[in-house]
Amino acid sequence: MKTTGFKGRDFLAETDYTREEIETILEVAQELKRQRAMGIPHDDLLRSKTLFMIFYNQSLRTRNSFEAGMTQLGGHAHYLDPSKIYTPALEGREVAYSTERVSDVARVLDRMGDAIAIRCYGDPVDWEYGGAHNLLLEFARWADIPVLNMEDDIYHPFQGLADLLTVKEKFGGFKGIKFTMSWAYSPSVHKPRAVPQSAILYATMLGCDVTLAHPKGMELDPAILAQCEAYAKEANSSFRITNSFEEGVRGAHVVYAKAWCPVIMFKEPVGKDDPKGAQEVFDQYKDWKTTREIMEMADKNAIYLHCLPADRGYEVTNEVLDKTSGPGWVSAAFDEAENRLHVQKAVMSLVM
Ligand code: CP
Repeated sequence: MKTTGFKGRDFLAETDYTREEIETILEVAQELKRQRAMGIPHDDLLRSKTLFMIFYNQSLRTRNSFEAGMTQLGGHAHYLDPSKIYTPALEGREVAYSTERVSDVARVLDRMGDAIAIRCYGDPVDWEYGGAHNLLLEFARWADIPVLNMEDDIYHPFQGLADLLTVKEKFGGFKGIKFTMSWAYSPSVHKPRAVPQSAILYATMLGCDVTLAHPKGMELDPAILAQCEAYAKEANSSFRITNSFEEGVRGAHVVYAKAWCPVIMFKEPVGKDDPKGAQEVFDQYKDWKTTREIMEMADKNAIYLHCLPADRGYEVTNEVLDKTSGPGWVSAAFDEAENRLHVQKAVMSLVM
């Protein structure tokens, strides 16, 4: 286990960390989870430290798991609503006395606290793909304290860690695990690609046999797909893409099915910035719903994952999401949500 070399580092993308480092984070998360279950306090790990959290978008799990995590580690998480401060903005997007340049916000918070966590995707950057990730990179350029990605328009690296920890707990490891990341239908097209992209990056990095299933038009970032190919090659495992939901799910140990927006949702050069067209693309695929019949095509001991919030009745039936115990396949979505807490505590303990 490699425990050195973490202190002071940003956590912006899983690709910035090696497989060995990700394995260490999972081991630390498991240890912190064990200690919490046993009632063993670990509030000396980040005593008196402050995490600033800037949320450009809504959140239940991310906000509360970071806040609870900082409390359990002995520190404090401070919530910042960008509409109630001078909204941090990049050069060229500033409005006098309404925004404040990211370089200035980053340097001010750097003088007062111990890490800055940010969530930003979609509307705040007008669906310019990569615009939100650039905002986070700019924070990281100016802040000497770690900058943590609480979901941008490319990566949701803490969600991906929680997904991994859930798979590790259920199956004991990753080798030979058939991991399917699938698109699912939702009435809302306003869903970033970060969750599926982080999920397939981590799953290929750790050596799962990964299938990405989605209808035509819902393709993910080609650079992410290329990285998945490279990880799968390195791990001597497989990575494939299918446009059939049933084919993707058949025999899978992990069925992770959620909606993400189509390519045309983004501004050029990625898409046409066409939310109405995006809705039309979406509505052709209402049958991409995880039902009991779909789960019965998977491995008999499969788990269903969803990062939550789930659009019940659209992405997944109540019957699937609520079947949290055996026999047979189970929904592990609530274990996955809990694991956000433990993986984030692990990363914060290591980098802060
Ligand atoms: N999965 C996830 O990031 O949930 P929230 O949007 O509630 O933070």
